[in-house]
Amino acid sequence: MDEPSATEPERDREDAGESVIATRGLTKRYRGGQLAVDGLDLTVPAGSVFGFLGPNGSGKTTTIRMLMGLIEPTSGAARVLGRPMPRSSRAVLPHVGALIEGPALYGFLCGRDNLLRYDAADPTADPRTRRARVATALDRVGLTAAAGKKAKAYSLGMKQRLGLAAALLQPRRLLVLDEPTNGLDPQGMREIRSLVRELASDGTTVFLSSHLLDEIEQVCTHAAVMAQGRLITQGSVADLAAGVRGRLVVTTPDTGDAARVLKEQGAADVVVTDDRVTAEPPDRDLAEVNAALVTAGVRVRGFGVERASLEDAFVALTGEGFDVAG
Ligand SMILES: Nc1ncnc2c1ncn2[C@@H]1O[C@H](COP(=O)(O)OP(=O)(O)O)[C@@H](O)[C@H]1O
Ligand SMILES: [Mg+2]
Repeated sequence: MDEPSATEPERDREDAGESVIATRGLTKRYRGGQLAVDGLDLTVPAGSVFGFLGPNGSGKTTTIRMLMGLIEPTSGAARVLGRPMPRSSRAVLPHVGALIEGPALYGFLCGRDNLLRYDAADPTADPRTRRARVATALDRVGLTAAAGKKAKAYSLGMKQRLGLAAALLQPRRLLVLDEPTNGLDPQGMREIRSLVRELASDGTTVFLSSHLLDEIEQVCTHAAVMAQGRLITQGSVADLAAGVRGRLVVTTPDTGDAARVLKEQGAADVVVTDDRVTAEPPDRDLAEVNAALVTAGVRVRGFGVERASLEDAFVALTGEGFDVAG
């Protein structure tokens, strides 16, 4: 390798807050004319767990393929670990572990042999530590017991785990995981989430895509939201949710009266479920709203504003629900 590792000054700049991934106007139009990614400006801070969120067809995988130098952008630029892609692929990719949609596996080999072969194809990987690193990676993704089974007999979830193990064979500065929980059951999803947290606590920046909002919310420090190839917003998860007011929730046996008073007080989108009335909070002091309920004889058992979720933020930003399939 001509450039086996990034220079120290470069690493310092990154630690000082330089982004690990930065794109400017990144655009991909496929040959068929499909505009899959449209003028993307993405900034992924060092040390973040960055959720790349968007419904199916919103351009996540296309973006990741451009970041990894697998396809050329139509226009715009991408930098990964401070270097331009795809031009610096040979210098950058050894520091990046990637799991991209449909990992390529040899079905006739067992899981362990797939990893041994994958590692052997990496000129930066030390053959002396290969067996031990493969065993550790299998263990981290929970595949030790199935390591001797042929990959063609693996479930989708097991293939996904094997792809993840391949990304973990060496210490990385950046992990790029495209829908890492695809095909996993809820228990498997939890395991992947705790693995991602563990990797992040070692200082690895993790960039993961998902079409599942709560998954992003549970594990990510930062997020970017995509829809139809365009970036809708990006920032820390806390800031994204804070930009949106949560819903007002009143718990009471007198739901009918409570709903009427809330409407009189200017609350919008009033919804009654069982003993709860929820609404968009009106633009006034909520103490007055509470007093009005009590004055009207509503027995208020609970009154408060629920913290806004990323889903609320998404709905507020796009004016639509999240589960729109592309
Ligand atoms: N190789 C391709 N050729 C043409 N169109 C493609 C190709 N890959 C993806 N697309 C289209 O580009 C858009 C974005 O796809 P993709 O990046 O896979 O989205 P996501 O990963 O968010 O589901 C979709 O409309 C998809 O149909
Ligand atoms: Mg995809």
